[in-house]
This record gives sequence, structure tokens and C-alpha cells, in this order.
Amino acid sequence: MRRRLRAGMVGGGPGAFIGPVHRQALALTGQIDLVAGAFSSDPGRGRELGLEIGLTPERSYPSWEAMLVAEQRLAADQRIDLVIVVTPNHLHYPVARAFSEAGFHVVCDKPLVHTSVQGEDLRRVVEAAGTLFAVTYNYTGYPMVRQARDMIQGGRLGTVRRSVVQYHQGWLATGLERQGNKQAAWRTDPARSGIAGAMGDIGSHAVNLLTTVTGLRLEALCADLHTFVPGRPLDDDASVLLRFSGGARGVLTASQIATGLENDLSLQVFGSEGSLAWRQEEPNRLVFWPADGPQQLLTRGSPHLSPSALAASRLPTGHPEGFLGAFSNIYRGVAEALFARQEGRAAIPEIAQFPDLMDGLRGVRMIEDTVRSAHSREKWTSASVGGPSV
Ligand SMILES: NC(=O)c1ccc[n+]([C@@H]2O[C@H](COP(=O)([O-])OP(=O)(O)OC[C@H]3O[C@@H](n4cnc5c(N)ncnc54)[C@H](O)[C@@H]3O)[C@@H](O)[C@H]2O)c1
Repeated sequence: MRRRLRAGMVGGGPGAFIGPVHRQALALTGQIDLVAGAFSSDPGRGRELGLEIGLTPERSYPSWEAMLVAEQRLAADQRIDLVIVVTPNHLHYPVARAFSEAGFHVVCDKPLVHTSVQGEDLRRVVEAAGTLFAVTYNYTGYPMVRQARDMIQGGRLGTVRRSVVQYHQGWLATGLERQGNKQAAWRTDPARSGIAGAMGDIGSHAVNLLTTVTGLRLEALCADLHTFVPGRPLDDDASVLLRFSGGARGVLTASQIATGLENDLSLQVFGSEGSLAWRQEEPNRLVFWPADGPQQLLTRGSPHLSPSALAASRLPTGHPEGFLGAFSNIYRGVAEALFARQEGRAAIPEIAQFPDLMDGLRGVRMIEDTVRSAHSREKWTSASVGGPSV
């Protein structure tokens, strides 16, 4: 009989944004239990949250360091299998590195780390440990995103010529970071956020979505990063021209000053024999324009979709599925990959897909390339980001 996996969480304390989303996504899998956590920078508040969500006092840890030591001491049938890192960005590297080195599997939020030097070091540690590492570029968990990728891989668009990805939000259109908003404060602080603002926070999602769906490998880019809100040390608006191996072209825009916009992430791919468009705020639909026929509206759950799009779908057609389901699909992928390891199986089911450490590392390189390009007087900057790993 298959046992449920045990997870611990670092970050996601009271008032946090994405930690509670991860907890709901875990619960939706029905395969992973949260049994331990060091949830907050404030030990007392972190412990309180642990007790509130039903953890034992012993495993509601005051710090991630205490959790690491205590979990290593537990018997193998008790200790956590994986740790989930949902702190502000600057803590991803030390936490993910320490847990990987100790032999725990890791699910880390994006952007993976601050620098590619850290990313390469983490890669060495994870390879030596032989552990699994996932990065929650969660938009790739949507069924219709997987459908788009499968259609492109299957040649339905012919040769991909052009791809346009946009991620527009408006919540940082004013100086929210100076009005007590925690999420805005660390995102606009280079010491905690890293070298980029909007480009790192949401531009890295956008490039991961584009490269995962199209399979294109980035060759060069030309970036314009700008800060509109006075006094903000990092970019809040990014426009990037993209050149891919094989000649395809692309455009990426990521903005957090797009007044009024919510989570307007969209992707368009134009090929020699057809085109596709998908939008995060209407995730159950994918529009397909074949060159030789009328426009088609593909919908989640339809039996005409690819096996992996169907595997990622949970409800009958017409019932809206969304962000949490897609997020949870990343965890289902992780769980299935771990079950396959435990059972010594090479064959893994269609759902066992998730963005991995290399996707995370490519995201970090893309951020560095973009900042380098924005500061350069050269028109084109060679890219080190590469394509997707799945
Ligand atoms: N995948 C996504 O769609 C998505 C969305 C939002 C945020 N994120 C990423 O998730 C991470 C967290 O973002 P957020 O918006 O939830 O931030 P947040 O500020 O809302 O929450 C961060 C949490 O980490 C805790 N924390 C800080 N230092 C800690 C420490 N030393 N030990 C334990 N906990 C500590 C804080 O107390 C807080 O509870 C970031 O890396 C961000 O980029 C990803």
C-alpha cells in the first residue's frame, strides 16, 4: 500500500500570501500531509500558526534551523520527505541548500535564488544528494497550458515564429511598500528580493511559461527596465525583446504598475500553420487558429485534448477550475515522481510533471541577463537562459 508523503514548510506564517496557497494545493493532492513547519521570522507567531493548523507542538518549530536538526533526528518513518520553501527570496538559497544537503527533497518558490552562482552551487548540492527539487512555476500546471505545449510539440502550429508573453499587475502602481504592506516591502528591497523587481517577481514566471510551452531556447535579448514609482530601487516595469535559436522571435512584458490590472498573464504563439492564445484569468480556454480552418475554442476537460492536459484536469467540462488546481498539479507531479522512486519504477504517469531546479536556474539567469542588458549600451545581450527541461 502506498503511504502518504510528509512535508514541512519554511515560511507561510500569519498574513503570508503564498504559504497558505501551497497548503491548500497540498491538501488537494490527497497524497501529501503537512506535518512540520517553521512558518515565520517571528518564532512565537510561527509556532502559534503551527498549532492553529493542527501540527503537534514538537513539530511547530521556532526556526528552520531547529526544524532541520530535529527532523534529521527522527526515525525514517516519521521524518518529513520534503520541505517547502515559501519565504521571501533571500532565504531560498540557505534553506534549500541546507535541506537538500541533508537529503530532503525540496519544493521551492520562485525566483529560485538571487544569483546564478548560488544556483549552480545549489545544483551541485542537489546532484550530489540525489534528491528531487521542484520550483513552483505553477502556471505550467494548468491543463490548457499543457495542451498548448502538447499541440506545439505535436507540430500543430508548424514552425513557431513568434511568441508574446505578458504579465501585467497593478498592485505596485503606488508606493505601497511605504504604507506597511509586507509583500510590497520585501519585493522592492534588493537585499531581500534580488537584483530585479517586476522582472524577477513575475517576469520569471512569464519566461518560464513561454519556454515551457514553446520549447524554444533563448539566444539573445534586449531589455528595457524602468522604475515608475519614485524612490523604488528596483524595476516595476519591464519590456524585453527575445531572440530564440532557430530564428523565432518574441516579446516579454512584465509590469506591476499596470493600474487596475490583476493577474493578467497571457501567452500568444504564432506558427507557420496555426496560432494559439491562452490567458491566466480565463484558464479553462485555449484559442487555436489553424491556417487551414476556422478558429477553434478548446476547453478544459474535453475528450479531444492531449493525455497530459486531461490528466491535469479534475472536474467535468464546464465547471471552472483555476489557480489552486493548477498549483496542486505541480505537487501531484512531485508526489508521483517520489512514488515512482520509492517503488523503483521508471514509468511515471502523465501527471508527473513539474518545473525543476534547471527551470529555476534558467529563471535566475534570465533575470541576470535582463538586468545586464538593461544596463548595457549594446543592442543585444547573449542569453544563458536556455529552454525548458520537460
Ligand atoms: N508561485 C507564485 O505564484 C508565487 C506567488 C507569490 C509569491 N511567490 C513567492 O513565494 C515567496 C513568498 O512570497 P509571499 O508573497 O508569500 O511573501 P510573504 O511576505 O507574504 O510571506 C513570507 C513568509 O515568510 C516568513 N519568513 C520570513 N523569514 C523567515 C524565516 N527566517 N523563517 C521562517 N519563515 C520566515 C514570513 O514571516 C512570512 O510568513 C517569494 O519567494 C515569492 O516570490 C510565488
